[in-house]
Order: sequence, then C-alpha cells, then structure tokens
Amino acid sequence: MEKKNVLKKPSIDEMTAFCKRKGFIVRSGEIYGGLAGFWDYLFLGSELKNNLKNAWWQFHVRERDDIEGIDGAIITHPDVWKASGHVDSFSDVFVVCKKCKKPGKVDKSELGKVKCECGGEYDSSSAKEFKLMFKTEVGLKDYGYLRPETAQLIFANFKAVFDGARMKLPCGIAQMGKAFRNEIAPRNFIFRCREFEQMEIEYFIKPKEKCPYDIPNVEVLVLASGETKEKKMSLKEAHKKKIIKKDWHAYWLGQELSFFKSLGANLDNFRIRQHDREELAHYSSDCWDLEYNFPFGWKELQGIADRSDYDLKQHQKFSKTKMEVLDEETKERFIPEVICEPSLGVERALLVFLYEAYNEREKENIVLNFNPKLSPVKVGVFPLIKKEEFENIGLSIFHNLRKKWNVVYDKSGSIGRRYARQDEIGTPYCITIDGDSVDSGTVTIRNRDTTLQKKIKIEKLEETLGKLLYGEFTFESLI
Ligand code: GAP
Repeated sequence: MEKKNVLKKPSIDEMTAFCKRKGFIVRSGEIYGGLAGFWDYLFLGSELKNNLKNAWWQFHVRERDDIEGIDGAIITHPDVWKASGHVDSFSDVFVVCKKCKKPGKVDKSELGKVKCECGGEYDSSSAKEFKLMFKTEVGLKDYGYLRPETAQLIFANFKAVFDGARMKLPCGIAQMGKAFRNEIAPRNFIFRCREFEQMEIEYFIKPKEKCPYDIPNVEVLVLASGETKEKKMSLKEAHKKKIIKKDWHAYWLGQELSFFKSLGANLDNFRIRQHDREELAHYSSDCWDLEYNFPFGWKELQGIADRSDYDLKQHQKFSKTKMEVLDEETKERFIPEVICEPSLGVERALLVFLYEAYNEREKENIVLNFNPKLSPVKVGVFPLIKKEEFENIGLSIFHNLRKKWNVVYDKSGSIGRRYARQDEIGTPYCITIDGDSVDSGTVTIRNRDTTLQKKIKIEKLEETLGKLLYGEFTFESLI
C-alpha cells in the first residue's frame, strides 16, 4: 500500500472529531450531551467494525482446523462470575490526582507505584475499591451480570463444544461480541469504554504439550519484564534466547502480529511487552501484551495470557460438571490447560487501523489508506457528467455491484471533489462513466492509493474488482 505525504498523525481529539464529522463514530446519546464510555457506530463506523470482525473471524476461525466459534449470551448466570472470581475480585481502585485533580483508576497491584498521565501523584487517602461488573435484574426476582469478558462463556461451554465438534487437543474456542465494564475513567475516545467488544480465543493443550506449529517469521520490538528499553528482534530469536519462554507464546504473538500485518498495519508501530511478576494474575505464569504506539503513548492492544487450568477447574467445582477430556494414549482423564488466551478489543484494533490508514495528501486532503477488506465502502460509481446515457450505465453498474459489496453512487459535484470524498473515507476504487462507456463499453477505474487510472471493459468490471479487493492481483498489473 503506497502512503503519500505523511505529515503527522492526528491527536486522539482530532481523530474523535474526524470520526464524528465523517460519520464513523459519535458519543452515544450525543443529542443529550453524551454518556461517558458509550459510543454509537454510524453508517461508516458500523461497516468498518463489521469488516474488522469478519476479517478476525476468517483468520482465526474459518481458516483454521483447530478452532471453533461460539456466540454466548451477554446477560449471564451469576454463578459463572462467582466461579471465575469476578464477583469477588473484579475491581479497580478509584484515585484522584493530587496535581490535576482528575479521577483515575489503578490496578490493586499498582497502588502507590503509578502516576497520573499529567505526571502528578495519586492521593492515596482518596483510594477506594470500585466493582467493575454491571448487575441487572432478570424477571421479577432474579439477577444477572452483563459479561465483563467473553472468555467465561467459552469455559462454561467448553465440554459442549469440545465433545460436540469432536475436537482434539491442541485446539481453541473463539468468541467475539459485547463486553461491559463500569470503568472509573473511560477516556481516549474508544480506547477505554464501558461498552466494548472483544475477540477472544481460549487455546487448550494437554499439560506440557509442545507447539507443533512454526513460530511466524516476524520482527518486532520486544520489552521483556524488568527491562526499560525494548529491542528489535524476531520472535524466533526471542524464543531461542528464552526471552519468550514458551513456544506457544511466541507462536500466538506471531499469529496476532501477522493478523495486523495482513490488514496493512506497519509492525514498526507495535511492540510486545511481558508482564512483570506483580501484574500477573495468581493462576498465570506468563503474559505478553501486544502494544501500539498511540499518540497518547504505548498502550495495551491485546493481552496474550497463560491461564493454566484455573477456569475449567473453577467451573467444574462450582457447576459439578466434569470438564475433563480423555487422553487417547494413556486413557486417563485430565483437565486441559489454557496455554494462551489471545484477547483483543475490537475498539482498540479499530483505532489502530484508523491511525494506520490516516494520511494527509497535499492541501490537507485526508486519505484513509485502509486495506480494501476493511474499507467501509468498496467502490464509488460516478457518471462524469449529468447525462442520461451516462447515468443509465452508472446506475446499472451500481445496482449490479451493490449485490456483492457496499457501493456508493455519486453524481454531485466535480469529479475531483467526488474522488476526494471517497479518499477521505477510504474507498479503494472509483469507477467513472464517460463517453467511452457509451461508445465502446469501457469505464475508468481509479486507485485511491496511487490515484492512477485505467480503462476497463464493463463486462470485466465485477471480476476485476473482486480480485483487486481481495488482493488476488495488483492495480499495476491491470492491462
Ligand atoms: N479475557 C481476558 C480479558 O478480558 P483484559 O486484558 O481485561 O483481558 C482484553 O481485556 C482486551 O479487551 C484488552 O487488551 C483490550 O483490547 C480490551 N479491553 C479491555 N477493557 C476495555 C475497555 N474498557 N474498553 C475497550 N477495550 C477494552
């Protein structure tokens, strides 16, 4: 993907304003002043989000033999969260900054150690525990919780999926969907919200089972626990040097980085960071975060934790349902371990792709260089001028292409203005109908990234666009 005249990346406030102006995302209840931590995805944002989720599902579920997907309920049985430990301990500590007086949140392990974003210290006398789960009434006398992660529904349904889909270890179960946390300080646009979506995998193995897959050949900045400066190296090297101790972690970090790369992200903007010992949950022996260099600093994009057999054991204990599987060799029964839990927030991934795509061309024209798979609109169709023959051909092309993709038809304004409107929302290809379309059945196809234009026969248009959109050939190779 060619990038043009990259001037500067927008601040998070500028990105928020851009997304509102173009119809991607606005504060929920905007006309009433908005509700902190809740966002509405408009006509472009909803398409972008669906495309991202579909790409994630395709990469992680459909194209793998070892992963099955589920879609669990949002309001969940309270015992699920008692078993998982969330009812007792899913909380943050509310604190107020002595300097800027803004409220903030810290993890229990961070109290007294971390500072506010303004550099000020938190007032420890203001510290108070804050439960993060939303509780809601169910019927007349029952209650449930809005799930704070999708993961527990995977554990609770483990046996039904493992047995039903006749799975064999090592294997994973995936889920994507809404999660809710009553965050003390939602901030940075969609980075930290109260209602968000997760795309999670629980990857199960037989204890001590080796990873049978190659570690992807990916280079990235690596920040190991206890280090202050990251070093660039390949994941294979990091594993060989025992910085990433487990082969499974190196493999899954590679998979996740490859996912971002496959959708056009520049991996120079990513790093992997190992959790310090005090950050780890009591059942976890290792955790790596994938972080992104946002305008507000390096921040967690995705966690990849080792959860051991903790969750399945808890659900077995609380529900009295056996979570064991049969070892085909020894004929013994055992509870599988979660060696990796790649857990990615949809909103954070979406923000990454917005930043990766956002570029400024000459005269402050914004171009979103999205990978076509993510683009909310795939094709713009324009009759060069308002003439009936041009419009008839344009509308017939539009009606045909919209059966497959999200396509817009635009006949208003200069052709330059129409191109600019589509560049700004990331539409990869625009089709223009002119005199040649009437005389010789050709249209002009324009590439967003290079602004190059080529003539193409109308009968070849749908097939050619399909190949271009799914990366089967490049625009340059078009004759
Ligand atoms: N099941 C493990 C789990 O939920 P987590 O680190 O709490 O782990 C995983 O969350 C991911 O979910 C994060 O890396 C982030 O991408 C996303 N996430 C968590 N809280 C979020 C919030 N308040 N707003 C947006 N995304 C959030």
